[in-house]
Amino acid sequence: VSATGTMAAGRVAVSAADVGRRNGILARLSSNEVPFGPSPRAISAAQELASQAWSYPDDSCSALRSALADFTGSPAEGIIVAAGSTPLLHDLVRLHAGPGDEVLVYEKSFRAYSVGTANARATLVAAPVGGPATVTTSGFARDVASLVERISAKTRMVIVDHPGNPTGAHLTGNELRELADQVPNDVLLLVDEAYFEFAVGHRGYETSQEAGIEHPRLAVVRTLSKAHSLAGLRIGYAMVPVDVAQAYEALRPRFNISAASQAAAIESLGDAEHLEANVRATLVGRQRIEQFFRDTGVPFTESLGNFVTFEVDREAKAVAKDFADLGVGVRPLPEFDMPRQVRVSVGKDEELEAFFAAAISVLGLGMTPTDAG
Ligand SMILES: Cc1ncc(COP(=O)(O)O)c(C=O)c1O
Repeated sequence: VSATGTMAAGRVAVSAADVGRRNGILARLSSNEVPFGPSPRAISAAQELASQAWSYPDDSCSALRSALADFTGSPAEGIIVAAGSTPLLHDLVRLHAGPGDEVLVYEKSFRAYSVGTANARATLVAAPVGGPATVTTSGFARDVASLVERISAKTRMVIVDHPGNPTGAHLTGNELRELADQVPNDVLLLVDEAYFEFAVGHRGYETSQEAGIEHPRLAVVRTLSKAHSLAGLRIGYAMVPVDVAQAYEALRPRFNISAASQAAAIESLGDAEHLEANVRATLVGRQRIEQFFRDTGVPFTESLGNFVTFEVDREAKAVAKDFADLGVGVRPLPEFDMPRQVRVSVGKDEELEAFFAAAISVLGLGMTPTDAG
């Protein structure tokens, strides 16, 4: 198999399409989707735009960028948008790192950082994290020193998923400040806040804004795929230094966000009530999953995302297959060097019930689904 062939095969294996609802799956809890659904206002806006699909969208996304400026309190000239935050992450890496440069991340962080770094032909440096969870301790703890010690003259970017996917681990606001203080001023500090809505106010977490990070090369990347429940419409944004926004603008493909996506995003940003309901439902689900693992003695890593990563005592891929046979999609994590960990995303009540019932059978847990309620 050619290098390209191998890579393509690798990507297929981690795709959300791995475990789909179409294949008899009752609950797809493998892709960190938020199944509570988009704001009704966002749905109407996208539907309305469908009849005008003949027309190119606003290339500059000016209304969306100004809505994001209002939403974030960050100036519009530093806001960039793309069809999901993944392409933004790739482009930001490409803008800052090339052959001979290093991109520094935590081990077991979001895959786009390693793929983006490989695409840029730069070198990924992964800082070690703590070991797996036990029944009494959370897993994969991050510490600032592990990252800072690996900053070298070649480091062009430091990327932190905040909180991390797939581990769910995080740095506190204090730790984030400590990190920012030690990242050289000419190195881009990229903080990926894909899940921040589920994290704020929990266990010392602060967004980079709340933490008052003043690093001159700070880039904060966010997405509407998670709390806004708009993953299918592909909308991501970043708050970056103005010169980075200008450089991005120069390389960005024209018309990269559809009119329907732009309109839906604007409506979703304006529907605080719906956003809050999605966040609330997600937090309830996350708590239920964590309580289930506590009750059944399954080691898990406390998470600030819409997912929980738990430990299994045999190959995680085989465990995920057993879950799939019972109609529940969960995500094994071999590509993160986590052969005995499985990630489950928060779902609707009935999906969680299906997960708990399957877990009792697949993991051989000594309780009934009713106890797990
Ligand atoms: C940490 C993190 N960042 C970014 C993303 C990308 O989301 P999207 O490309 O849908 O915006 C994800 C998706 O799972 C993620 O976990």
